[in-house]
Amino acid sequence: MNERMFRVSGDAYDFFMGRWSRRLAPALAEAAGITAGRRLLDVGCGPGALTGVLVELVGPSSVAACDPSEPFVAACAERHPGVDVRQAAAEDLPWPDQAFDVVLAQLVLNFVRDRAAAAAEMTRVLRPGGTVATAVWDYGEGMEMLRRFWDAARAIRADAPDESHPSALGGVGELAEFLTSAGFDLVAEGTLRVESTYADAVEVWQGFLAGVGPAGAWCLSLPEDEREALRREFLGRLPDSGPVTLAAVARCGTGLRPSP
Ligand SMILES: C[S@@+](CC[C@H](N)C(=O)[O-])C[C@H]1O[C@@H](n2cnc3c(N)ncnc32)[C@H](O)[C@@H]1O
Repeated sequence: MNERMFRVSGDAYDFFMGRWSRRLAPALAEAAGITAGRRLLDVGCGPGALTGVLVELVGPSSVAACDPSEPFVAACAERHPGVDVRQAAAEDLPWPDQAFDVVLAQLVLNFVRDRAAAAAEMTRVLRPGGTVATAVWDYGEGMEMLRRFWDAARAIRADAPDESHPSALGGVGELAEFLTSAGFDLVAEGTLRVESTYADAVEVWQGFLAGVGPAGAWCLSLPEDEREALRREFLGRLPDSGPVTLAAVARCGTGLRPSP
């Protein structure tokens, strides 16, 4: 993974993806079945959209969060005082064994380099019987903002990448298979749906110029004439004027750490 795509400010992230994360977070927290008194870990917290929801549910002193991106860790800590926020990757979690009742990862696992190591670490820090809860966008058809972007990208350059590659984990059954093969019990997979409304199509486009994630990074890597062609192609796929509402579908996978 190109780490620079997440080495951006929390505000830049929010303008592009955080607005979506904030809508998804309550649904993932609900799927995780969080109740008061639980100790929670938000892995790959970004600037803290899910962290904030967890704080509302159990209070800051019962929440920990981590992310490899330094600016995201700083933003999350500033936004959520009292939360134990650390700079760390999922593959090497800096907490002791069985420290948490619930470990969550929202829109993260598809970016993790060594998923098996991440699953092993998430299991290690969970108490036996504790819950893992994860979500990944359905990049194929379900995340309209990114789908339209990559379709427009392919229209201007046949060799453009696409986040909906096989094993992106957002396809039906992929998260469940991943969690099962990682050894979790009672694995369940569901679908979460959210929407976001933009002032107009230009506002949707401007999100990509923040350079966040694979789409933003690819957009900024283009020479100016190609970026302009992409802008026109992308805007051509959205209404000419007025507010634009887009939908997004995420797969949600949950499971339990086996009890001895
Ligand atoms: C799309 S963002 C999601 C952030 C946040 N969870 C949210 O819902 O807004 C992906 C996040 O995964 C983080 N990330 C990338 N590689 C990671 C790894 N190996 N372990 C943990 N987090 C990672 C990135 O730094 C980034 O914050």
